[in-house]
Amino acid sequence: MNLYLQLYCLLVLVGQLLPLARGDVHYYKFVLKETNVTKLCVSKRILTVNDSFPGPEIHVHKGDTVYVNVYNYGPYGVTLHWHGVKQPANPWSDGPEYITQCPIQPGANFTYEVIFSDEEGTLWWHAHSDWTRATVHGAIIIFPKEGTTAPYPEPDGEEVIVLAAWYKGDLMAELAEDIIAGTDLPHSRGYTTNGELGDFSNCSSETTYRWLVDYGKTYLLRIVNAVVNAELFFAVAEHTLTVVGMDGAYVKPIVTDYIMISPGQTMDVLLTADQPLGRYYMAAREYSTESAAVTGFDHSNATAILQYNGDYNFTSRPIFPHFQLPMYLDMKAGKNFTNRIRSLANEDYPINVPENITTRMFITVSMNVLCRNSTSCSTDMGNILATSMNNISWNNPQVDVLEAYYRNLSGYYTTDFPDWPKTMYDFTSDNYDEDAVITDQGTKVKVLNYYESVEIVFQGTSVMGGSVNHPMHLHGHSFYVVGIGSGNFNNNTDPLSYNLIDPPKVNTFGVPKNGWLAIRFFANNPGVWFWHCHLDRHMTWGMDTAFIVRDGGTEETSLRPPPPNMPRCTDLPDMSIKRWNNVNEGSAQL
Ligand code: C2O
Ligand code: CU
Repeated sequence: MNLYLQLYCLLVLVGQLLPLARGDVHYYKFVLKETNVTKLCVSKRILTVNDSFPGPEIHVHKGDTVYVNVYNYGPYGVTLHWHGVKQPANPWSDGPEYITQCPIQPGANFTYEVIFSDEEGTLWWHAHSDWTRATVHGAIIIFPKEGTTAPYPEPDGEEVIVLAAWYKGDLMAELAEDIIAGTDLPHSRGYTTNGELGDFSNCSSETTYRWLVDYGKTYLLRIVNAVVNAELFFAVAEHTLTVVGMDGAYVKPIVTDYIMISPGQTMDVLLTADQPLGRYYMAAREYSTESAAVTGFDHSNATAILQYNGDYNFTSRPIFPHFQLPMYLDMKAGKNFTNRIRSLANEDYPINVPENITTRMFITVSMNVLCRNSTSCSTDMGNILATSMNNISWNNPQVDVLEAYYRNLSGYYTTDFPDWPKTMYDFTSDNYDEDAVITDQGTKVKVLNYYESVEIVFQGTSVMGGSVNHPMHLHGHSFYVVGIGSGNFNNNTDPLSYNLIDPPKVNTFGVPKNGWLAIRFFANNPGVWFWHCHLDRHMTWGMDTAFIVRDGGTEETSLRPPPPNMPRCTDLPDMSIKRWNNVNEGSAQL
């Protein structure tokens, strides 16, 4: 090895072991309270931050730290999560309820310390308790460090596009009812662009979101999928999109007519305003991977208007991206886009894909039912809809896993999350194994040594005919998507096609319907880190678990002590919605 190479390797190693030098510090105040909003011709109260939907943007440079003081003036306990921010050694401020903290109770406040490290581009924050994130979310914009630039020509301007779902009625009440009944969970009634449903929804055209552009200029669109339960297609009529970033990391530019973005994902997209002066719809609609027989999804088209500045006569209606925006069930379009995503992976933006794997997991992600009565369990209608990983359906503990781990409290979780499914069966066959229908419940986590190099192969299943894409999200880390394919994973042949050169580096990526996804990452962040499907209906039903990453033996590689004002778990009434639970509550709620 020559000297330069040795020095380079040393720097890379040091860079990975030491938390990056702290940048600037910023302070935000987030006031959670209910706000009156009128949409689809009716008024209702929604939970917001600082009275806005979507909520406030957070602006930082790479490596900065942000203190967000959250005052909860809403009617129920809430937590906030900084999606994609790794928070080195600081899970205390990560946010998922009953994983790293208990909810901030009404009337209380809590200050999150959000520590940025290698993220650059766009991420977002959202509530992480029940489905409060439907209206409690906002974009996080991470500029390159002062004196450095992004690896694409500097745009003339930029625009944040937050896509979200709108529900009629009282979402929390309906959710609670459905969870107790064990039935399907609420469906949205429209998709919003920066809080507005757009021209195609009732009583909405007055407020359609408008974005003014100058002819000839190039803009950076920072797109966030904050939708609760749906992947989306998005396109801008007549305009070409160039994807340059995803999940706070750069990608090789993808020139495309449309994107497919999963809930949790963020994409940075360049757009040049090079079309005749006029008005063009920016439109999004659901990408459903359910079988064609399932028609109960939200069919609405979200629209916003891209409008050129200048002197011209408006045509009657803006142009719709009819030929660009794929239809709801277009799996070919979904896959074609996803398969093009590659890390930038060049000299200036190197990646570090684990090669010698020390922990391997093979995990089925599945639809299931839970038994109401453990002695006479059948798969009939009387039981409860559930989801699982390796046939374990996650059940939140009363005290968060992080506190129980840190204080050595027993009885709140176990460390036996399985590395393999209980049985091997033909996972993607239409004749799925009946034994795989009923799932166990548990609060089982997986313990990893510090800096373990992990490979997980997620295997989708067709159990109950319920095979769909599952956008899996890992807290505290980014992971590399080294392989993706359809059908059952083949341990002999599929690894041969792994991409170890420029795999996407992301925090959320879909396990394809009736297919598999292989990811790798270094467990280089001590603490407790949730991972789950980012479709909230699946998360609520139990497609979740957590990693405990052990300390690495030095101060820098060890879990930090908790801040003094963590919300208490025990001495306050628990106001959150509880899943029906066959382990602790027997048949009490039948
Ligand atoms: Cu975007 Cu566990 O969250
Ligand atoms: Cu899912």
